[in-house]
Amino acid sequence: MMDKKQLKISTFDDALQQVKDGMVIGIGSGSTIELLIPHLAEKVTSEQLDITGVCTSNKTAYIAKKHGIKIIEINDVTNIDLAIDGADEVDTDLNLIKGGGGALFREKVIDAMANKFVVLADESKMVSYLGETFKLPVEVDKFNWLLVARKIEAYDKLEVTRRMADDVPFITDNGNYILDVTLHNGINPAEFHEYLIHLIGVLETGYFIDIADQAIVGTQEGVKVFNKAN
Ligand code: A5P
Repeated sequence: MMDKKQLKISTFDDALQQVKDGMVIGIGSGSTIELLIPHLAEKVTSEQLDITGVCTSNKTAYIAKKHGIKIIEINDVTNIDLAIDGADEVDTDLNLIKGGGGALFREKVIDAMANKFVVLADESKMVSYLGETFKLPVEVDKFNWLLVARKIEAYDKLEVTRRMADDVPFITDNGNYILDVTLHNGINPAEFHEYLIHLIGVLETGYFIDIADQAIVGTQEGVKVFNKAN
């Protein structure tokens, strides 16, 4: 029986074999990607690849640089060949909830921009509907966060909490707050995203709809690869 960490690691071979010389790689955030980075660095060194990384969080950039991966800023990039990222939930159509680490905005910029976006997950992330196991993170400006929280609650009597880090509000790399929204099966992700994104003060939501091209899932029965239906 493999634990979650081993299941995450089991997905790496299928992801890394897609990394080719000369590529710009979008490097995601979270514990899965933090485990992946040393493996990526090892591949770059042993195969003498010329790889450039663009990172979805300050923490990832710090770790990647420490491992000798060449990192550039998003505004210096015109194309991302491959993005590799984790997820908090993956549904059967490869729609995701992300943002458990609070990096959802930069993740969405980079994952959506990539020619191919590959999600790595252990099988506990697979859900039958978005919101089944995880709350939806929404990044909001500090200025009117409580007003925004009330508007989100009003959508469908939803429970909304401001994310905390120990005793203080969690702050994103963009200097904002995260609101975590408890979802239910009756909520249509595309419609709810549209509602949220038009509230003044919302920067982005953790819904990643129709962005992932492939999910590589570590299961007790082996690694399963799911490709987006065309
Ligand atoms: C970061 O904001 C998230 O979107 C992560 O990608 C997601 O939470 C997956 O994290 P783990 O790899 O730690 O499960």
